[in-house]
Amino acid sequence: PAALRELLLSRITDVPDYPQPGVVFKDITPLLADAAAFGALTDALAELCVRHRADKIAGLEARGFILAAPAAIRAGVGFVPVRKAGKLPGATLGQTYDLEYGRAEIEIHADALEPGDRVLVIDDVLATGGTADASLQLVRRAGAEVAGLAVLLELGFLEGRKRLEAGLKGAPLEALVTV
Ligand code: PRP
Ligand code: MG
Repeated sequence: PAALRELLLSRITDVPDYPQPGVVFKDITPLLADAAAFGALTDALAELCVRHRADKIAGLEARGFILAAPAAIRAGVGFVPVRKAGKLPGATLGQTYDLEYGRAEIEIHADALEPGDRVLVIDDVLATGGTADASLQLVRRAGAEVAGLAVLLELGFLEGRKRLEAGLKGAPLEALVTV
């Protein structure tokens, strides 16, 4: 709803020229520091988990963890971390993806999910969609179904939604705020 969108947007600040000149960074730390806004965000993400009949939530390191873990508790489902390469101790599945400069890799525990699991993937920001796309592939390679992808903030001008079309395979992409 519009009121939630307004509340969330009012607690996300613009930081010009970070991390490099010409880039405007969207800082969600004021939102996290506001109990009412963080609570409303958590409720909204948990509601999406219920609506899309997810029985697991996967959070993307690092900022996605902050949103996904409380949402999992609120929704009453388990939390699965998708981590930057080299951080998970067990057997992993890895997926590389393109960054603006170079490549990155994320991983999931190979046994974190099982057939029949429906996973809601949560991250803070959808920019180019590279991170999210890699995470959807990992969830499927781990044997589970993608119930949806939920982000706090979608940067519409970067057209991540378009990039994700193939990877979503019809699963919903929910953005609580789009700029
Ligand atoms: C940021 C953001 C998203 C991703 C979006 O993560 O938190 O995860 O970039 O970009 P994309 O759509 O172009 O892939 P980043 O890895 O920069 O940092 P973090 O560890 O603080 O989450
Ligand atoms: Mg991130």
